Amino acid sequence: MMSNPDFSDRFREALDSEDSLVEAAVSRDPVTTFAESVARGLGAARKSLDCRFLYDAEGSRLFEEITAQPEYYPTRTEAEILERHAGEIHAMTGPVTLVELGSGYSVKTEHLLSAYAGDDARYVPVDVSAGALRAAEQSIGDSFPEVNFTGIRGTYASAFRVLRELSPQMLVFLGSTIGNFEAHERRAFWHDVQAHLPLGDWFLLGADLVKDRDTLLAAYDDAAGVTAHFTKNYFARMNRELDSGVDLGSVEHRAVWNDSLDRIEIYAEFTSAQAIRVAPLGRSFDVGEGERIRVEVSQKFRLPELTEELERFGLEARSSFTDDRGWFGLLLLQRVREHASS
Ligand code: SAH
Ligand code: AVI
Repeated sequence: MMSNPDFSDRFREALDSEDSLVEAAVSRDPVTTFAESVARGLGAARKSLDCRFLYDAEGSRLFEEITAQPEYYPTRTEAEILERHAGEIHAMTGPVTLVELGSGYSVKTEHLLSAYAGDDARYVPVDVSAGALRAAEQSIGDSFPEVNFTGIRGTYASAFRVLRELSPQMLVFLGSTIGNFEAHERRAFWHDVQAHLPLGDWFLLGADLVKDRDTLLAAYDDAAGVTAHFTKNYFARMNRELDSGVDLGSVEHRAVWNDSLDRIEIYAEFTSAQAIRVAPLGRSFDVGEGERIRVEVSQKFRLPELTEELERFGLEARSSFTDDRGWFGLLLLQRVREHASS
């Protein structure tokens, strides 16, 4: 990985060279960033944690294991849609650079790459997890040696800084990861896409749809306990990196369906009171017996409302794909307007 000062310059250099991974944030200590985020979340009246930190190397590995669980339908369903429609999507966009946000292990992306690889395509995956990017580089290098791979280890915000250079492109955001944002964060994200994606460029968005409660709850509380392990790994990471001293035996995974907000909420429920340290900041937070800390939300969508919301940000749906059960939606959008209303 490269590591000198300005990210946009380094990224430009990487596009012209053999460097396959660029580090976006070199100026800040990542442990301090994590510590500050945890302290903010635990200091709030209703404790919550930023779900982005679920994905250290172990968290990314556990997420891949979740995607293989029989109850976790989103990955399988979206993969099926991508496989069926990749050729059609390619025919609409023509040859473009694929820029994928929160790409993880990039497994489903291979369906898209099958359609785009013949164009000597460039693929730019963006993820905060270095472990996930390395796994993606390996498997894409093996399956698609002709594809130009330049990964960015960084947040979505770092990717937005370089989109202008990658036009014509299709920004890809799969897995319904957009559902892990709060509604106001989601709207801020559309705003950023609108502000940074050049006019005429494409946006491919995967969104999990509202369905019956039992199917949803099972997907977030699999019988093998992998999702529970994923939740607990947050606290294991805090113990490793922040010396938090959490008694992992007293952390219970709870998945709840919030019917009024159409979303799954995932909590860690503490079966005993304890103090959680954030050692790098010299702080400590008390958690009571029975108290819940929210670690994630997973919004479920209705396609007409989602399409309308995106339209308000100048992102117009050109095609909409779904599976036979109508469980998952894939929207192919195009940025059409310079000034959209909020
Ligand atoms: N797209 C893949 C992986 C989804 S898991 C799929 O559909 O299966 C969500 C991914 O987003 C993880 O790999 C995580 O590391 C990444 N991620 C979460 N928050 C992020 C952020 N703020 N910036 C960049 N990547 C992020
Ligand atoms: C990455 N994201 C879309 C997953 C989801 O379904 O919300 C994360 C996840 N959390 C628990 N299981 C899966």
